[in-house]
Amino acid sequence: MTRRTFLHSTGVATAAAAAQTTSSAANGRIQLGCIGTGARGQELMQAVQANPNVEIVAVCDAYTGRVERAIERTKGRAKAIKDYRQILADKSIDGVVIATPDHWHKTMILEALNAGKDVYCEKPMTYTAKEGADIIAAARKTGRVLQIGSQGMSSALQQKAKEIIKSGALGQITMVRAAYNRNTASGAWIYPIPPDASDKTVDWNAFQGPVANKHPFSLERFFRWRCYNDYSGGIATDLFVHLCTTIHFLMDAKMPSHAMAMGQLYRWKESREVPDTLNAMLQYPEQFAVNLSSTFNNQSGFQGSFDFLGTKGSLSLGGDKLTFSPERSQEDNQWVVDSWSSALEGKYYADPKVQAAEVPSTWKQRAVPGGTVWQSEGQDSTVAHMGHFLESMRTRKPYWEDASAGHHAAACAHMVNLSVREHRMVEWDFAKDDIKA
Ligand SMILES: NC(=O)c1ccc[n+]([C@@H]2O[C@H](COP(=O)([O-])OP(=O)(O)OC[C@H]3O[C@@H](n4cnc5c(N)ncnc54)[C@H](O)[C@@H]3O)[C@@H](O)[C@H]2O)c1
Repeated sequence: MTRRTFLHSTGVATAAAAAQTTSSAANGRIQLGCIGTGARGQELMQAVQANPNVEIVAVCDAYTGRVERAIERTKGRAKAIKDYRQILADKSIDGVVIATPDHWHKTMILEALNAGKDVYCEKPMTYTAKEGADIIAAARKTGRVLQIGSQGMSSALQQKAKEIIKSGALGQITMVRAAYNRNTASGAWIYPIPPDASDKTVDWNAFQGPVANKHPFSLERFFRWRCYNDYSGGIATDLFVHLCTTIHFLMDAKMPSHAMAMGQLYRWKESREVPDTLNAMLQYPEQFAVNLSSTFNNQSGFQGSFDFLGTKGSLSLGGDKLTFSPERSQEDNQWVVDSWSSALEGKYYADPKVQAAEVPSTWKQRAVPGGTVWQSEGQDSTVAHMGHFLESMRTRKPYWEDASAGHHAAACAHMVNLSVREHRMVEWDFAKDDIKA
């Protein structure tokens, strides 16, 4: 028995709720600046534009081609700003969308919050676990909205998955498996470099910023920064962060107490410093364990797939599909009792309690209900996630993926990377809200 429920209406309802809330920001019309208008930044611009009552008035990027494209996307209405600090100084701008590489996030978030801006920043919120505390404190002190950009948790499917898990339909969940695999050069972050890129069109100093180790001008580093430790934590901070955000959201979990991981660079050796294959185990005090895995050398489990494994059923989430399958397990001691004397075996199976509990397939087939499938056709999750940010700007009520959620998802990735680097189990210090020294 298979039931398909189209979740289209769920997505629409979210957007409608966002549209109805009355504004406290700029008479209902929000003015935003975009900092970092690269590949993701341009998607976020489109997500902003898909929401009502908001306008992008300023854009800033370290490569001229992306500034041009960003201005084009606003039909020439946004101003090109050379230094992002000018956006922060502009009092007419209510909030900023930050989509720069990871090593810039903390600096830009803190400066933006302290300048009185609400902030949507891409995941991972941090480049190191230590950065989390300062960001959480600044969000609290300034009272500004800070939302982090793992948009999956705003999708209709993940909201449905949370509802199913909360209903208890899976029984006790003690194990979660999640994977994020790819098998292309682009999937392994070897992006094409625009033909007009040079030291005339690329601001190398702006890219390097205050945190990263300094290197001579390099277009590979600039456009494929995920491959280098100075700007990124590789697979863990790029992909596991999405997986951990979803797991924390669906399981109502905060942080694993322990993490162990192994990573290797097997294939894309000429192009990077970070592993192309990563396996991690996380253990949560909420009484469940997680296996995370990713390879860039095969694409089964492409773009994120999850299995939540419970005593009464499994919930699989992948692509645009969510599937619930009830457990079909039943007691069967036949192979053990078969070694007893024939008389005792006969007595054992004559017991009605045993007959009720153990039904070997040779006797009769017990009817089991079939699985349930939900398919999403609803609103794009990035549009929905951006809608939540804009709604928070108006209502001043933070959405789920706030500074604390952003810190914890990113910190899982930092624990994984530390475990890989130091070949040891890494522990979380719940009192300090940081990796145990
Ligand atoms: N949520 C998602 O699904 C998702 C998807 C892709 C990327 N991301 C995240 O978005 C961020 C950006 O990733 P991307 O793929 O767009 O990278 P990208 O290289 O395409 O874009 C980053 C942009 O930041 C600009 N930049 C760097 N330093 C700057 C500075 N000082 N001032 C202004 N601009 C500066 C660069 O010129 C570049 O155009 C990363 O944190 C990444 O993890 C999230």
